[in-house]
Amino acid sequence: MKIRLSSKLVAAIVLFSGLASGALDSLPAFQQRGSQKPKRTSSLLINPDAQPDLPTAKAATAAASAAGLNLDDIQGDILQKNQELFYFFSIANATAFKPKLASEILPLITTTTELLDVSTQPITVLNIAFSQRGLTALNVTTSLGDASFAHGQLADISTLGDPGSTNWVPQFAGTSVHGVLLFASDTVDNINDAVSSLESALGDSITKVYSLAGAARPVAGTEHFGFQDGISNPAVTGFTAAPLPGQFVVPAGVILVGETGDTSASARPAWAKDGSFLVFRQLKQLVPEFNKFLADHPIVEDGLTAQQGSDLLGARMVGRWKSGAPVDLAPRFDDPALGADPTRNNNFTFSHPDAVLTTNQTRCPFAAHIRKVRPRADLGTPENTVRAIMRSGIPYGLEVSDEEAASNTTSTERGLAFVAYMSNPSNGFRFLQQAWANNPNFAHAGVGVDPIIGSLVGAERVITGLDPTNSNVTTTLTTDFIISRGGEYFFSPPLSAITSTLSV
Ligand code: HEM
Repeated sequence: MKIRLSSKLVAAIVLFSGLASGALDSLPAFQQRGSQKPKRTSSLLINPDAQPDLPTAKAATAAASAAGLNLDDIQGDILQKNQELFYFFSIANATAFKPKLASEILPLITTTTELLDVSTQPITVLNIAFSQRGLTALNVTTSLGDASFAHGQLADISTLGDPGSTNWVPQFAGTSVHGVLLFASDTVDNINDAVSSLESALGDSITKVYSLAGAARPVAGTEHFGFQDGISNPAVTGFTAAPLPGQFVVPAGVILVGETGDTSASARPAWAKDGSFLVFRQLKQLVPEFNKFLADHPIVEDGLTAQQGSDLLGARMVGRWKSGAPVDLAPRFDDPALGADPTRNNNFTFSHPDAVLTTNQTRCPFAAHIRKVRPRADLGTPENTVRAIMRSGIPYGLEVSDEEAASNTTSTERGLAFVAYMSNPSNGFRFLQQAWANNPNFAHAGVGVDPIIGSLVGAERVITGLDPTNSNVTTTLTTDFIISRGGEYFFSPPLSAITSTLSV
C-alpha cells in the first residue's frame, strides 16, 4: 500500500460538488465523508522509480472485493508523503470531543480508496489514531488485546534497547499523549491551513501536546543517510492487484486487524476490524557522524577507491546501496538501474546456488539492516509472513549544514519519523526491534546487532561480516548512529468504529 504525495505543487484546486445533500443525508456518516471537500485536479501521488506502482482505484477495488476487504473503511495513511505533520494531542474534554470526532474529524478522514484516484484525493490527507490512554479517556473499555499497546511505549523502553528516557521527547515520556492527527499534503501551507481549520473546529476539546513536521528530502524517497527507503513494503492481498517479482505477499490480516492472517483476531473487539496498530518512533539520525565513520573505515579491496570502499561499507550496513539496489544482487558496486527497477530490486532471497547460506557473507552480511529485519531464506521457505510491517515514515529535520559536515558533528536534530502499521505489534515492530535487530545472535550466532537500528542500551556494538574480504573481521561501533527520541503505540481505527464506538 504505497502512496506517495507529489513533489509537484498542485496547480489547480476545484471545489467538488458531489452528490446533492439530500442524497448524502441518507447515507451513514462515514459514507458521506469527503463528498463536499475541496478536491484536486492533479494527483498528489508520485511514483519514485524504485518503488512499486500503486494499483489503480479500479484494480484495488476489484482485488478488495475478491478478498472481501472494504477499502472505504480503512484509513489511507499507509504511505509515503511529501510533507507531513504529526500532531499529538490530549483529550481535554471527552464529552465535548466525542461529538466533534464524529462531526468535524470523521468527514475529513481520508480513506484508502480516496487516495487512489485524483478525483477523490483531498487537498490535505487527514488520519487519526489513539493511544490506550486516549481510548480510556473516551471511555472505551473493551481491551484491544495487545499488552504492549495497553502499557504504552514508555513501558517498553528497555525491551526496545533505548538507553533510558533521557533522550526521549518529554511528552512521549509523560502521560498526556492520547492520540495523533496525521496531516499530509504537498505543501506546508496546505497542512497549516488544515491544522488551523481543525483546531478552530475542535476548540478546547483537545490540547496540542507536541508536533513533529516531516518533509521529503531533495532526492525523493530517501532517508537522511541518503538511502532510498520504502522499497520493500509488502504486497497486501486484497489491495495489491499484481505483486512484483520477489515482493513479500502477505495476507491482509498481517496489517489489518480481524482480516485473514491476523493471528490474534479472536483477541480483538469486533469494532476494531480493519483498523491497524500504528507504531510511532522519533528516530534521530547522526548523519555527519555516520558519514565520518564510513569515510574512516573504507573496505579495502583491490579495484576499489577509498570512496568506493566507504560506499560499500554503508551499503553492507544497510543491505542496499543508496540507489536501492540490493547488495545481494550487486555485491561490489552500486547498480542504479537495478535500484530503480521495482521488478528486480526485491527479487532476491540471500540464497545462491554457489554459496552456503549459513556461512557465506560475500554478498549481503548477516547483520545488514534489511537482512536482520527480514531474513528471507535464512529462516527457510516459504517465508513466514507474520513479522511483516507496513512502513510509512518520513524524514524530519533540516539537511546537513556545511558546518555540520565540516565538523562531523550533528548540531540540528534530523531523523526519521518512523511509522509502521501492523495487526499485532508484538509480532511486528516490537519483535523486529528486540528479537532480531538488537539480538547479536540472530539469525546466526555471533553476527552482532543491526548496525543501523540495533541498540544495546547505549553500549558499544560489535558486528561481524561487514568486510566482504574476511567475514571474521569485527567492526566495533562506539556510537549509535540512531538515537531513539521515543514515541507511542497507537491504534488507527476503521472509520466505522468512530461512529459505532469511539464517538458515542
Ligand atoms: C532511522 C531509522 C531507520 C532507517 C534510516 C532505516 C532505513 C532503511 C532502509 C534504507 C531500508 C531499505 C529500503 C527498503 O527496503 O524499503 C529499510 C528497510 C526496512 N526497514 Fe528500516 N530504517 C530505520 C528504522 C527501522 C525500524 C525501527 C524498523 C523496525 C523495527 C525498520 C524495519 C525495516 C524493514 C522491515 C525494512 C524492509 C526489509 C525488507 O523487506 O527487505 N527500519 N530501512
